[in-house]
Amino acid sequence: MGEVLHTERGTLTAEPPRRGVGIRIVGLSKAFGEVQVLRDLSLEVRPGETFVIIGASGCGKTVLLKQLLGLLRPDAGQILIDGAPVANPGQPKRYRIGMVFQSAALFSSLTVGENVGLWLKEHRVADDGAIERIVTEKLNLVGLADKKHLMPSELSGGMRKRVAIARALATDPDLMLYDEPTAELDPVMTDHIAEEIVDLKRRFRITSVVVTHDLNMGCYVADRMGMLHEGRLVEVGTPEQIRRSTNPVVRAFITTQTKGMGGA
Ligand SMILES: Nc1ncnc2c1ncn2[C@@H]1O[C@H](COP(=O)(O)OP(=O)(O)O)[C@@H](O)[C@H]1O
Ligand SMILES: [Mg+2]
Repeated sequence: MGEVLHTERGTLTAEPPRRGVGIRIVGLSKAFGEVQVLRDLSLEVRPGETFVIIGASGCGKTVLLKQLLGLLRPDAGQILIDGAPVANPGQPKRYRIGMVFQSAALFSSLTVGENVGLWLKEHRVADDGAIERIVTEKLNLVGLADKKHLMPSELSGGMRKRVAIARALATDPDLMLYDEPTAELDPVMTDHIAEEIVDLKRRFRITSVVVTHDLNMGCYVADRMGMLHEGRLVEVGTPEQIRRSTNPVVRAFITTQTKGMGGA
C-alpha cells in the first residue's frame, strides 16, 4: 500500500479503500422546449456495480449524466446518490464523481501530467512532490506514465481518452461516469479502454455508469445494462438478458449493431 495523505475529506492513499455509492433515480423527466428528452425514468444502480446505458445517438444519454453531475436540473423526479439528493456543483458532498467526457476535454496548453494533476493542485490536496507521485501512479494505471511530459496534441485519440480516465481517477472518486468512452476509437483502442474500465472496477470496486451506443463494448464491461428509448429505460438486465431480449426496440437496436458482423 502506498503513502497516505490526510486531506480535508479524509485519507487519500495510493490504493485507497474506495466505496462505490448507490444511485437511485425515480420519475426523472427533462425537456428542452418542445423536446421531451427523459420521461419518468427510474433506475437503481447498486454500489460497486458497472451499469451501462445503451441507446441511439440523441436519445438523452449525456443529458442523464449531466443530471447525475448536478450540471442540469431535472424538471421532475429525484436523483439520490449515496442516499442524498444530487448537490449543486460546488456544494459539499459525501462522495466524489469522476467524469470522463466524450471529447476527453483535456487542456491543450497543459502537459499530460499537468492535466491529471490539475484538480489535486487546485484543491491543494498535497504538496507538489506528493502530487507528482499521485499523477505518475494514475498514469501508470492507464499505461501512460512515460507520456507525462507530452502535450495532449502529441497523443492518439485513445491515449487522450486514457489520460481523461487518469485525470478522473486523480480525484479519488466513488463514482465514475463515462460518456461514450470508445466513440471514434478504432477496435484495438476500444478494447484497451474496455479493459481499463473492467480493470478499474475489479481493483477499486467503485460504482460506474457508462453510456454508449457501442453494444459490444457495453456488454463486455456491464454488470447490468439498460436500453434508453424515448426517454425511458425500456429494458434492464444482464448483458446476456439484453442480448436475448424479445423487446422489439431492443431487438431492432441489436440487429442494427450486429449487421455485417455475423450476428452476436
Ligand atoms: N442544453 C440543451 N439545450 C437544448 N437541447 C438539448 C440540450 N442538451 C441536449 N439537448 C437535446 O436533448 C436530446 C438528447 O441529447 P443528448 O443527451 O446529448 O443525446 P445522446 O444520447 O446522444 O448523448 C437531443 O435532442 C439534444 O438536442
Ligand atoms: Mg452524448
